[in-house]
Amino acid sequence: MAKKPNNVTPWEVTGEIDYNNLIDRFGTKHLTAETLQRMEEHARGSHFMLRRGVFYSHRDMDAILDHFDSGGDFALYTGRGPSGPVHIGHLVPWIFTKHLQDVYGCKLIFQFTDDEKMLIREDYDAEDTWHWVYENALDLMALGFDPGKTEFIVDMKHSSKLFPIALKVAKRITWSTMRAVFGFGEESNLGIIFFPTMQIAPCFYESERRGEPVPCLIPAGIDQDPYWRLTRDTATKLGYPKPAQIHNRMLPGLTGDAKMSSSQPETAIYTVDAPEAVEKKLLEAFTPADRDNCPLFLFHYFLLTESDVEVDELHQECTVNGKSCTECKNELVEHVNRFLEAHRRRRKLMKSRVERMLE
Ligand code: TYM
Repeated sequence: MAKKPNNVTPWEVTGEIDYNNLIDRFGTKHLTAETLQRMEEHARGSHFMLRRGVFYSHRDMDAILDHFDSGGDFALYTGRGPSGPVHIGHLVPWIFTKHLQDVYGCKLIFQFTDDEKMLIREDYDAEDTWHWVYENALDLMALGFDPGKTEFIVDMKHSSKLFPIALKVAKRITWSTMRAVFGFGEESNLGIIFFPTMQIAPCFYESERRGEPVPCLIPAGIDQDPYWRLTRDTATKLGYPKPAQIHNRMLPGLTGDAKMSSSQPETAIYTVDAPEAVEKKLLEAFTPADRDNCPLFLFHYFLLTESDVEVDELHQECTVNGKSCTECKNELVEHVNRFLEAHRRRRKLMKSRVERMLE
């Protein structure tokens, strides 16, 4: 059967995604066995998201590893557009980022693009986005990041940290490039046309702050790649190190969509969903004939079940032993609710810490 056309941009992911094709289209590279082995040696073990190809693509990962091997330091950079509650798909890149912080001992710069969400959402103003910055920051810190090595940059509050860099970036990028990369048109508002320079700026923030070149590595979903394609040319023009990236696949939505998405509540399990809401959503979830791409199996594969033996057993029970979808869904309800309960306990403990970090 022909695949539905797909569209992968920072603001929209639709259709069936051909992840290999994205590597060609975006000009990134597959993570090779050699690169994975180097990362395993540093970590003294393999991370399940690397083993399973959840993180599957990169740019300049080897350059970052070479830099580390020769005693150099680098920064991690990732972020969140605070438009609503965090869903479990968002946790995928963040759990892996925490692993990278543990292994490489590096600083994380975490950006909250409240400006982006205010510019895109007709119904949002600065107060709405601030509420979600705080709520989303609790989810992030509940994953165990080292607060002493994590810096939040909230665009509207900390604009003076980014604006001078964003201006330098903006001066080097033309309107025709912006239109080609992001699909902007006559109807796009002026703010959103400037916004990408604010998401690019943190790539160079640590170099500016320390007054010396500090490479950065961006762990994030492949949907964010358009920013980094633009950044690389600009970095060279401005004399900063080119940022490296490592990309994850997107956790699909419960309704069979290519991506679990905060703007489509029916596709998502939020970290703050009550147990009854989780039960209702999972029992109503779409289960396709193609079991390898069943969103419920992918919950285990991407996030919930780290043991390969257990994940294989789950696959076998479904494909060989004929376990029913209802049974599988009921078990998943228990598993997700246990996971979320533990997450919410850790989230609560982070309140005063997060308040200080956002000052
Ligand atoms: P946002 O808030 O849409 O997404 C935050 C991060 O979560 C990833 N993501 C997913 N990963 C797996 N499965 C999913 N279903 C899924 N949905 C979202 C995204 O790829 C992203 O890594 N503009 C950005 C915020 C931002 C940012 C950054 C992101 C600012 N600076 C640097 C990454 C790196 C945004 O709105 O992300």
